[in-house]
Amino acid sequence: RHPWSAVGRRLGFTPLSMAGPMPALLVPPGYTARVIYRWGDPVGVPGRMPAFKADASNSAAEQALQAGMHHDGMAYFPLAGSARHGLLAMNHEYTDEGLLHPDGRSTWTAAKVAKSMAAHGVSIVEVAAATGRQAPAWAVVRPSRLARRITASTPMQVAGPAAGHRLLRTAADPAGTRVLGTFGNCASGATPWGTYLTCEENFQFYFEPPEQPDADQQRWGLKKGGNWMRWHEHEERFDLRRHPNEFHRFGWVVEIDPADPDAMPVKRTALGRAVHEGAASALTRDGRVAIFMGEDARFEYIYKFVSRDAVRPGGLAANRELLDHGTLYVARFDADGTGRWLPLVHGQGPLTVANGFADQGEVVIKTRQASDLLGATKMDRPEWTSIDPLNGEVYVTLTNNSARGQAGLPGADAAHPRAPNLMGHILRWRHGADLAAERFDWDLFVLAGDAQSPQPLARGNVQGDAFGSPDGLLIDPRGVMWICTDGGGPGHEQLPRNQLLACDPTLEGGPRIRRFLIGPNGCEVTGPVMAPDCRTLFVNLQHPGETDDEHSLPGVTFGGAWPEPGVRPRSATVAITKDDGGIIGL
Ligand code: FEO
Ligand code: CA
Ligand code: CA
Ligand code: CA
Repeated sequence: RHPWSAVGRRLGFTPLSMAGPMPALLVPPGYTARVIYRWGDPVGVPGRMPAFKADASNSAAEQALQAGMHHDGMAYFPLAGSARHGLLAMNHEYTDEGLLHPDGRSTWTAAKVAKSMAAHGVSIVEVAAATGRQAPAWAVVRPSRLARRITASTPMQVAGPAAGHRLLRTAADPAGTRVLGTFGNCASGATPWGTYLTCEENFQFYFEPPEQPDADQQRWGLKKGGNWMRWHEHEERFDLRRHPNEFHRFGWVVEIDPADPDAMPVKRTALGRAVHEGAASALTRDGRVAIFMGEDARFEYIYKFVSRDAVRPGGLAANRELLDHGTLYVARFDADGTGRWLPLVHGQGPLTVANGFADQGEVVIKTRQASDLLGATKMDRPEWTSIDPLNGEVYVTLTNNSARGQAGLPGADAAHPRAPNLMGHILRWRHGADLAAERFDWDLFVLAGDAQSPQPLARGNVQGDAFGSPDGLLIDPRGVMWICTDGGGPGHEQLPRNQLLACDPTLEGGPRIRRFLIGPNGCEVTGPVMAPDCRTLFVNLQHPGETDDEHSLPGVTFGGAWPEPGVRPRSATVAITKDDGGIIGL
């Protein structure tokens, strides 16, 4: 009997309709969504709490003490075991340079690059709910000695098989063990020993490639004109024509101790280098850790890491090198509903010197190429993974892939029954009694879609409320599944806003999916995390008001902006509570 057996996975809220006019942010009757942490809000470092300037004129140094932009994956770490007082760790995935500077990109300067780098990375904020109230009223605690910003300039240690590797050595770091910063941090995870795992996703687009990218660079999608950020114009290390190995120092999962603001983050290279989306973990039968990781890119892969050693009691101090030793696997889904985790181990199978892998360091640096050789299954943009805490079943969102079935590209297969895949789906694994198993069974949990769509390929098999492009995913402590969307485009015509939905994933006859939250215009809904008592759900609303334009050029007004009309739109964390203080979703 689990502690939630009295309420189980039951849902009772009134699902939201997406027809007709809607307020900017909508939650069911009886619930409140309180904005607690917006881009530019001070993180709370004692004595250093610069206020947000609505015209975006905060300096880089101020930005480095404030919430970054584009909040994404998140985790809650209780303080003294509390469900009403803890640390929120969250990613700031990327920046909208049009909003970040008073005049957008109309000029491009070293100060703007510095501010952009300071708006990336991670926040650690202390949060608490006001006492004496039935429904927790959350706020950021300021000042806090635990408040911290980690940016694209923060020193980090490299650990695991690629530490010190010749492919990681640079002029600034001849030893190949110290990297400055993290960026592209998308989804995330929390380890059983209380650390935060932040995942470097679209790192490749921050580099200026050479005129003719080499085969390795091409495998990661580098191409002329593919640099989104122009950091290299003022930060030379991002120019691969001069510093080719800087590229290998990103694309990792980074472990952060949220309880020690002075602790150096560690890039855990044993978990492989990828366009890492997230890192959901749980214990194996013998007490080791298994971590499931999607790589969000078309026709890329899903990975699992299993540690060599068991997790020991005693928090991080007892598990400092746990993520440096273990086996990395890549998934192969077979048409008969079974599959294999294929080990990415140097010297095994084709992962040999003759095939270009000098050692295990090179295998993890070139995870994609190693996975190609093993014949892993090419997936439709695997985003978040989540593990059911009650039965150990594992889920992954495959957000969409409009290129599946195009000439020269993979077509439909058992794990991807639609080509093109406009709406995405969620896939489920069963590993028997042990997450360490190399064999698994799998099935298609739900094909996302909209039964009203004129396009047959976009209709899916959803019972309940329509949705498309699943991305963020959480199975909460009582076993309720929360699905976030990040969609738009063909197939999503009747779904003008992104949303958060809930279901019982174990229901006989398939899940009945209910819409719980509708986000502001232009935003994606992401980062869901439940407080341990299931009475607060934290969610991030990323890039509200996003358009294809430069938002802040002279003359642009922000009339309908969220969260405050008249002020440029700001990504923000909301704390959702039930007005009677009850369990979320029940
Ligand atoms: Fe940053 Fe895959 O979403
Ligand atoms: Ca995002
Ligand atoms: Ca995502
Ligand atoms: Ca996405």
